[in-house]
Amino acid sequence: MLDWMDSLKGRSLMRLKSFTDEEMMNLVDLAAQLKSRRAAGVRGDLLHRRNIALIFEKSSTRTRNSTLVAVRDEGGNGEYLTRPDIHFGKKESVKDTARVLGRIYDGILFRGFRQRDCEELAKYSGVPVWNGLTDDYHPTQILADLLTMKESFGKLDSNTVVAYVGDGRNNVANSLMMGCAKCGVRYVCCAPRELRPDEAVLAEAQEVATKNGCDIRVCEDPAEGVKGANVLYTDVWVSMGEEAKTAERIKMLRPYQINMDLMRATGNLEGRLMFLHCLPAFHDFNTEVTKECGALEVTDEVFESKYSKVFDESENRMHTIKALIVSALCDKSRI
Ligand code: CP
Ligand code: NVA
Repeated sequence: MLDWMDSLKGRSLMRLKSFTDEEMMNLVDLAAQLKSRRAAGVRGDLLHRRNIALIFEKSSTRTRNSTLVAVRDEGGNGEYLTRPDIHFGKKESVKDTARVLGRIYDGILFRGFRQRDCEELAKYSGVPVWNGLTDDYHPTQILADLLTMKESFGKLDSNTVVAYVGDGRNNVANSLMMGCAKCGVRYVCCAPRELRPDEAVLAEAQEVATKNGCDIRVCEDPAEGVKGANVLYTDVWVSMGEEAKTAERIKMLRPYQINMDLMRATGNLEGRLMFLHCLPAFHDFNTEVTKECGALEVTDEVFESKYSKVFDESENRMHTIKALIVSALCDKSRI
């Protein structure tokens, strides 16, 4: 039992492609197991005296708190380090930072801009490094998304169609596309031509999908693309670091808003259908940003509807991050 964990011991997660399909799905299952265990009131010691550094260059509510609580739940300690707190990249190279922190900590979770920095931390720290979002990928988000879908649909296979609508080339879209391909779920990206997935990232996912008997498609027309979908997924139209592109993105993506008409266009209102969003989401005018820009990627009606599983999804960030850290640092005999 849990023999698969041997292969994840000491491993970093740079992007979902770093793991085999089985390793990824086993992690999702371990997260479900840890979730039940926590619901039963167990706060264990699977990470007893383990110290985890959280290096964050960008803001975070979910990833930061999920990681800190996941580690504390299991008897470990997390240290939150923002760019101004440490010399990261400014007075000390990423490579040197990696070598210093790797002598102190048992693992590092990184949220930042460049995927290359995340990879450099993994290469030189000598400890597992987990990508908590870069400009290119957001793999830990997708572990939570897969758990959320599995909880509702029972299993993940080509009977499920995920339609991602919006900025089809951002970090979440890139990782979601690969995550679906790896578990055999069909994926359609509905995006304007300018925001289609990068060709190399798309080709990589398509290759995995073909092997797993599913398909990855790109469609410009959202109403056409979402036909038959069981999951409608969107993300903000402007990712962190791209704020200068706000006006252009709003213009481009307005027709891609997720509203009840688009939910209806799936043909699955009465069947298997859920709405997912990695969050934070613009669904009402109660944020400074939406008050200023006046645009929403999802209507409040959909966000607050019975189809919306966004808070289950957000909770699952904690269980999946816990599974990831535990599988890298804890002996399987203890689980
Ligand atoms: N979904 C997600 O990564 O949220 P945070 O930016 O709050 O961490
Ligand atoms: N694509 C978004 C995801 C936030 C969790 C961003 O990078 O800002």
